[in-house]
This record gives sequence, C-alpha cells and structure tokens, in this order.
Amino acid sequence: MPARPADKLLSHYDANARALPWRNPPGSPPMDPYRVWLSEVMLQQTTVATVKPRFRRFVERWPTVEALAAAPAEDVMQEWAGLGYYARARNLHACAKSVAATGGFPRTADGLRKLPGIGDYTAAAVASIAFGEGTAAVDTNVERVIARLHGIDRPVAEARPDIRRLAAAMWPRDRAGDFAQALMDLGATICRPKAPLCGECPLAADCVAFASGTPEAFPGPKAK
Ligand code: ADE
Repeated sequence: MPARPADKLLSHYDANARALPWRNPPGSPPMDPYRVWLSEVMLQQTTVATVKPRFRRFVERWPTVEALAAAPAEDVMQEWAGLGYYARARNLHACAKSVAATGGFPRTADGLRKLPGIGDYTAAAVASIAFGEGTAAVDTNVERVIARLHGIDRPVAEARPDIRRLAAAMWPRDRAGDFAQALMDLGATICRPKAPLCGECPLAADCVAFASGTPEAFPGPKAK
C-alpha cells in the first residue's frame, strides 16, 4: 500500500525536526504542558527566532506553572517586555493562576479552551503536543499547507471549514503532537507563502498545487 501523506510527513519530521527549546526529539513521550503552553502563547504573534532566547529565560526564571502563578504581575510584564501584545502576558499570568489553583492543566482541547488567552488553535496544539489528543491544530501555516495539498484556490476565509475537515481527516491519532509540529515545520521552512521549496517537500507527489506548476497560487488571495 502506498504510504499515506501523513506517514511521509512524519518520516520527514523524524529526520529533519528543528531542535527548539520547547521540544523533545520526535517520538518522545508527550511533553511538559507548561513548556508547551508557554511556547505556544509566545509563538502566537512572535517569530520562532525571537521566541527561542526569551523562552529559555522565562523558564529559567519560572520553571513551573506554580512558580509563574506566584510571581508578581509587574515581574511577568517586565519579563514579557519586547514580545508585544501585552494582553497576552496578562492572560498568561491569569491562566497560570487558574491552572495552579486547580492542580494542573486540563488534558483536553475543550478544557484548555476555557482558560484565559487560549483559543481554538492553542488549545488543540497543547492538547496534541502535551497530551497526545488527536485534535487538529490548524493555524495560518497549516491552512496553507492543506490548501496546497488539496489544490484549494478559494481564499482561506471562504474555504476554512473544508480545510479544517481535510486536516482533521489526515491527522494521525497515534502521533498527533509530532504531526502538529511536523506541519508547523513544513509550513515555516518548505511550504512557505512565497517561493516554496517543493523540491524538498515530502508531500510533493501528493500535492495538487505542486502538480499545477504554480503552488504559490494556493490558497487564493484574500478577497478585496
Ligand atoms: N509555531 C507555533 N507553534 C510552534 C511550535 N510548537 N514549533 C514551531 N513553530 C511553532
């Protein structure tokens, strides 16, 4: 049987995963939810390159969610300085207090979504990476990868429900967290918005956008 696209992507991830301070190597047991959550909140509007040193500093200062919950608000805001979007820091602290008070992070995306600062994407990312839940974590990068794979040339805003369904259908239940991170890496390094590196892509043989010869045309441009 030919390999499924999800398996091809996971094999590629096993060999090429970016080493990032909030990650364990591929195939490791699920990770510390505090580190996963913190990295996902930092990465909501800030690049990987900027987040790396700031993440390291942050977890050195507050190694656990309980330590963060107990920190003075001014210290948290100060440590966040330069990362922007300060509502994130306030929500981060509120979330840490709630988690510390209830004895740990909820283990499902539905539970996580109820916490301050955690939307659909972050809830799914934390649930899959930290707890192995098979919920599809779909952000802008993942939307682009899925749209290209299936040759969706409508604008994302219009095609979003289809993209989400297609993502969920291919999400491997046994390696949900690695798959989330494999898609993130693919979107960041190969399936880039401009000048995608299709020659290096493990999904090129399955990709409708690649076959079309104009992969950048997928998904369609934002409606004006
Ligand atoms: N962008 C959002 N979450 C990420 C993660 N866990 N790894 C790399 N890039 C990301």
